This record gives sequence, C-alpha cells and structure tokens, in this order.
Amino acid sequence: GETARLTGKRVLVTAGGTVERLDPVRYLTNDSSGKMGYAIAEEAARMGAVVTLVSGPSALPVPDGVGIFRVQSALDMREAVLARFEDSDLVIKAAAVADYRPAVVAEQKIKKKSDSLTLELIKNPDILQELGTRKTHQFVVGFAAETERLDEHALDKLKRKNCDLIVGNDVSQEGAGFGVDTNVVRFYDKNGLVQALPIQSKSDVARKLLELAGDRMSAAPEE
Ligand code: PMT
Repeated sequence: GETARLTGKRVLVTAGGTVERLDPVRYLTNDSSGKMGYAIAEEAARMGAVVTLVSGPSALPVPDGVGIFRVQSALDMREAVLARFEDSDLVIKAAAVADYRPAVVAEQKIKKKSDSLTLELIKNPDILQELGTRKTHQFVVGFAAETERLDEHALDKLKRKNCDLIVGNDVSQEGAGFGVDTNVVRFYDKNGLVQALPIQSKSDVARKLLELAGDRMSAAPEE
C-alpha cells in the first residue's frame, strides 16, 4: 500500500548543524535545529524503514524506532556517514554542514589581545559530493538551502553532487527553512522541477519526499 514502500529499506538521514571548534569554549555553527531531518527520520520509521539518524547537536527527542549517532563537526559527520553508506539504500542529507572550519583549533582559550582578530578558515570536505561519487546502489537525496535563484542553484547542486533528487529550500521565505516547524520546498531531479509544495509542516514535507524517493527507488533503473 501507500505507506509500505519503504518496508525493510535502510535509510540514513543527516540532521542539524555541525559545530566547528575554535577553542575549548568557542565554536562556529548555524541555525539548523534538526527539525527537518528528525521529521524525515520519524516518517521513514513509520513507513517501515530501518532508520539511522546522524545528527549534529540538537535538543529534539529521538523519534521512536530510530537509531541515533551524534556528531559535532563536519569531519565527524563525514566519518559517520561514510561508515554507514555501503549498507544504506536511501540517504537523505538534510544537515546544514559547515562549509568551512577554523584552520587551527586552539588548545587553550584564545586570549583577548589586539582590537581585531582574524580567523583563518579552511574548506570542509563536501560529504554529499563524496556520496555522489561513490554511490553504487544507493539512492541519494540532497538539500539546497538558498536565499536567491532557487531553481538554478538547486539544479546546479544536484548535478555537481550527482544526487538522484534534491530538495530546494528557499530559506528567505516566511515559514521556511531554519528553526521553524513548517517548510516551503521544491523537489528536482536531473530533468528539472518535479514538484513544488506549498507551505506545510516538516512532517508532511518529509512524507511527500519519502513517497517520491520510494517510488523512484522501486522503479526500473534508467538507461
Ligand atoms: O534543521 P532545521 O532547523 O529544520 O532546518 C532545515 C534546513 C534549512 C537545515 C534544511 O531544510 C536544509 O535546507 N538543509 C541543507 C542545508 C545546507 O547546508 O544546504 P547547502 O545548500 O549548504 O548544502 C547542500 C547539500 O550538501 C546539503 O544536502 C548538505 O547536507 C550537503 N553538504 C554541504 C556542505 C558539506 N561540506 N557537505 C555536505 O554534505
């Protein structure tokens, strides 16, 4: 039936923001609450999947029946995701991974000295892009959080990162994106826009995304 499409499928979901340490008491992060990724994990479990959630720091309760693995940095998240990738059927990357991390993590608290302080940041590996390169049987879904030209940027990310689907998230819209309980998203595949959803709860967005992914996974592979 409608909800049985993920029965027994192994689903790996990432959620939340990463934490990039500067020193023992300071870090860089972003506004991701984990709500979108946790909603995906919860709905996937309801649809019969075996779900693992790799999560940055989040205060949210772990959904029933979901296995949780907590991480801090983008490097930790990369390790956790790659370790579980081979044994996954569907991977959904809702996490807001930091693009950069401090070049040096100070062992002691950084002292206040001059009037200005320059931080050097270095690029983090792009986990989604690595999955796109490595994937064999896995169905890989990325997210694209954008504040302008959503269609163009989302499709560009889908192609560059070799995803099967991408969820375009216009985070400049009211009731969409970081921290809120609702979202406004568009689903794309390599041919372009598949579905544009009006504002709705993150649980409803999650269910529609999982139904689409489930349909595409069970369809005969394209030539
Ligand atoms: O957690 P909430 O408060 O509910 O907010 C939800 C959300 C806005 C975080 C979520 O809906 C969302 O859009 N997540 C993706 C945020 C993001 O970092 O997007 P991006 O466009 O920078 O990255 C594109 C994709 O590449 C994402 O799937 C991301 O997980 C992945 N990525 C990015 C950088 C990196 N170094 N490694 C990655 O894997």
